[in-house]
Amino acid sequence: MPTLNVLSVASEAFPLVKTGGLADVVGALPDALAPHGVATTTLIPGYPAVGAAVKGAKVVHRWADLMGVEARLLSARIGEHPLLVLDAPALFARPGGLYGYGDDWQRFAALSRAAADIASGTAPKLRFDLLHAHDWQAAMAPAYLRYSDAAKRTPSVVTVHNIAFQGRFDTTIFPELGLPDAAYALDGVEYYGGVGFLKAGLEAADAITTVSPTYAAEIREDRFGMGLEGLIETRRERVHGIVNGIDPAVWNPESDTALPSRYTARALGRRKANKRAVEKMFGLDRGDGPIFTVISRLTWQKGMDVLVQCLDELVALGGRLALLGSGDAHLEAAFLAAAARHPGRIGVRIGYDEPLSHLLQGGADAILIPSRFEPCGLTQLYGLAYGCVPIVARTGGLADTVIDANEAALAAGVATGFQHGETGYHTLAHAIRRAIAAYARPDLWCGIQRNGMRADFSWAESGRRYAELYKSLTGAA
Ligand code: ADP
Ligand code: GLC
Repeated sequence: MPTLNVLSVASEAFPLVKTGGLADVVGALPDALAPHGVATTTLIPGYPAVGAAVKGAKVVHRWADLMGVEARLLSARIGEHPLLVLDAPALFARPGGLYGYGDDWQRFAALSRAAADIASGTAPKLRFDLLHAHDWQAAMAPAYLRYSDAAKRTPSVVTVHNIAFQGRFDTTIFPELGLPDAAYALDGVEYYGGVGFLKAGLEAADAITTVSPTYAAEIREDRFGMGLEGLIETRRERVHGIVNGIDPAVWNPESDTALPSRYTARALGRRKANKRAVEKMFGLDRGDGPIFTVISRLTWQKGMDVLVQCLDELVALGGRLALLGSGDAHLEAAFLAAAARHPGRIGVRIGYDEPLSHLLQGGADAILIPSRFEPCGLTQLYGLAYGCVPIVARTGGLADTVIDANEAALAAGVATGFQHGETGYHTLAHAIRRAIAAYARPDLWCGIQRNGMRADFSWAESGRRYAELYKSLTGAA
């Protein structure tokens, strides 16, 4: 099988730098694609943590002026796979978070410009058949390819991990982007009177993917498309929904070193020691009733305001909650207030803690994901793999990956969790009540756990689909 060389460009990649699911997916893709004849090289910015991890890496290219700053390209490895790091200290050597700076347009235009240059063969020893850009931070790369005067244009794919984040900027940045005037057009980078990075990428890419089939359909509607629904609808022949998988090297209860007690679907009794550890960590009363968990950004998207409303009822029904997350200040405060109202029943940890997220999946009984929209969602997949039963809103990837424990699914023995309709107090409270009732029937509950653990949440099929798409675009099919 001939190898296809793909440059995958993103603003984060696990395990080097992560704020959310994007990093997990970008980190997992090289392994997912390798069996299908695709060699993936990942390009990410040289944030301080990344720079420290690749210390001593070889410089393989230099830019004297990349969007107005000096930059170097470093060659390293991420796991078994090649990694390129864009070392541009003026843009990325910042002590704070990854995003939210006044010059984000310049930082991520530079990342995209670098990716387009590399994919076009600027660095002598690096040759790529296709460029795959993730989210708005990388989405200008296909636009730079489109407006370059290279004789042969490298094909490109843009993946939308969340259409709510679009990289919209004032029109005054346009002259700084280094694009021809013609690019400021309705089918170019212009977006509602400003500049739209994601929009520009979606117009320029040869194919658009998003991270579940249901989300691919949803973003054609104005309720989910966030202003881009018209573009998605127009380009629908080129839009593909490919669901995310999970990386079994990172998420496997049989080998997870973050768990005090490791287990398999056949030995679920061993989860108990993990549950005791969760109770301890979150100051919960010891008990055999269900522990619900949340591992999430605390935002409107994730339906966290609605969950807050349901907590008194959850506790009144005998449930407990262990929450790990951070986000909007008013939501953090609301969860802390609920914990103060229900000592021993609700435990809240505000922050980001990767090992603790593994312990929660391995020790809690059910994970709550009442998202208003969810392109794919990964925590329900981790929940399935860990026997932490997902309770999810029927939207996006949540709809595609969890089988609701309705009568038909129970009779057929295929249920893996609980789904509820559009996020609201009544729908979510009803799902919580259904889960608590099912938990009271241990055989039924164990069956749901086991079905989830045996479900296919691997990258096998999705890796094949990405590879097929790449091949169709490069003529290698
Ligand atoms: P999104 O990317 O929209 O936030 P996903 O479900 O796709 O949602 O991915 C979230 C990722 O971030 C998962 O790997 C999840 O375990 C992780 N995560 C979210 N919040 C926390 C936290 N507070 N601590 C540790 N991991 C977290
Ligand atoms: C985004 C989405 C999430 C998805 C993740 C990885 O962060 O919000 O639903 O799972 O990207 O694709």
